[in-house]
Amino acid sequence: MYRRLIAPGALAVSLMLAIPASADGYSPGAPGIGDPYYPVYGNGGYDVAHYGLQLKYQPTTDLLEGTATIRATATQNLSRFDLDFGLTVSEVRVNGAKAAFTTSGDEELEITPARGLPRGAPITVVVKYSGTPSDVELFGFTSWMRTPDGGIGANEPESAAWWFPSNDHPLDKATYDVSIEVPDGTRALSNGVLTSTTTRHGRTRSTWRSDRPQATYLATLAIGKFDVSTAKTADGLPVVNAYSTDLPAATQDGARASLERTGEVVRFLEGYFGRYPFNAVGGYVPNVTAGFALETQTRPFYSPKFFAKGPNLSVVVHELAHQWYGDSVSVHGWRDIWLNEGFASYAEWLWSEDQGEGTAQELADYVYAQHPADDPFWTVAPGDPGPTHQFDDAVYDRGALALQALRNAIGDHAFFAILKGWPQQHRYGNATVQEFEAYAERVSGQRLGALFDTWLYQPSKPAAPAAQAAGVRAAGTPAKPASWTGMARGHGTR
Ligand code: TRP
Ligand code: ZN
Repeated sequence: MYRRLIAPGALAVSLMLAIPASADGYSPGAPGIGDPYYPVYGNGGYDVAHYGLQLKYQPTTDLLEGTATIRATATQNLSRFDLDFGLTVSEVRVNGAKAAFTTSGDEELEITPARGLPRGAPITVVVKYSGTPSDVELFGFTSWMRTPDGGIGANEPESAAWWFPSNDHPLDKATYDVSIEVPDGTRALSNGVLTSTTTRHGRTRSTWRSDRPQATYLATLAIGKFDVSTAKTADGLPVVNAYSTDLPAATQDGARASLERTGEVVRFLEGYFGRYPFNAVGGYVPNVTAGFALETQTRPFYSPKFFAKGPNLSVVVHELAHQWYGDSVSVHGWRDIWLNEGFASYAEWLWSEDQGEGTAQELADYVYAQHPADDPFWTVAPGDPGPTHQFDDAVYDRGALALQALRNAIGDHAFFAILKGWPQQHRYGNATVQEFEAYAERVSGQRLGALFDTWLYQPSKPAAPAAQAAGVRAAGTPAKPASWTGMARGHGTR
């Protein structure tokens, strides 16, 4: 499910990559979907509706074997198309017939079906594969995380290619059935709802269904020894949380004291963002060394490091805020990352405000004062940070400052109408920063070009803090609000 990229830069890239049609009017799909930050991510020529993954995993060896069944529609007359994938493929079928395939570049699996696929035609692609994800290097690294008792697929923006073949870009969202067999005693988790568990010959197969549109990097697979807790929120939303059994007791306690409040946090965020967009929720804390968290759809991934010193609600608020800002409404291209990180960071400030641990304004003042004018922090434009600065602190903290500046400029009434209206407007879709700017102008009835330019695009420290509005601010350095965590933000495993 995707809508075509419309940004002019992106169009130039897809034209560059497109190969002229052959005489019969059939041509290969582009090897990239047209994202100027990452020209080879995703592919052209088709649109995926559903991934059905039938997998087996061996925790002792990290061997992953599987069959992916992908339902898609051709969006042009296709002679050939690519999937993005790193494991070893043994067979590909397209609409039942064996198809030729080769691998090229870092992750392009080129598939040539026996017959051309006319535009609009339904396509079923079956890919049989196996491999050890931790050995597979794409773009110079492996995104798959090994644990002593299993493995974890969770990363951003690259994650899927280590465990399933896909059209790997948030612009092509799809639904998922992930079925995975592991030895008894080992647990396997993915997104959404557990629809079945069957055990035979010492192996257990669990099947998970994520039935709302989901970006490829938000699909997750977690295998290992977990304690799993299940519950229902007051609204009947199923909650599944999982904790690695190998974590130190203090970390376990901190993790439980945080994740077991998932339902309460969802309720809190619904007050600001509107109804929760999915039909399951939860989170998991595996035994990994990585230090980040990730908003994997309905089931965020949390590094145990967040909970080593006790409960941490900020990170739970952050990842759950992404369910609206990032997961339901996804970036159109990776340059739109502020729509994810600026808003999830601002949600932490709203939680802090609600808890009486520092208002959003106090947090804004603190962040503004923390970075002197010559701090390189200010050279990164949250509205277009570039691929190498996509997850810099500026995208998060200056990104949240931009929202505080907006709030002060247009007032709480319009500001909160925008926070709630936007996820509704673009539910299950994709959106650009430019579209957000236009939406904010429409709802507030104000011209906001200068404000967005100052906070999202200028490579310098804005003259005035995002403050202005309310109140008396004492001279000197603002005090550090109690809720400030300086949340560890991972940059993946690269
Ligand atoms: N999106 C994640 C968050 O804000 C953070 C993140 C950035 C990340 N880059 C990553 C996580 C790479 C995993 C891998 O919570
Ligand atoms: Zn985030």
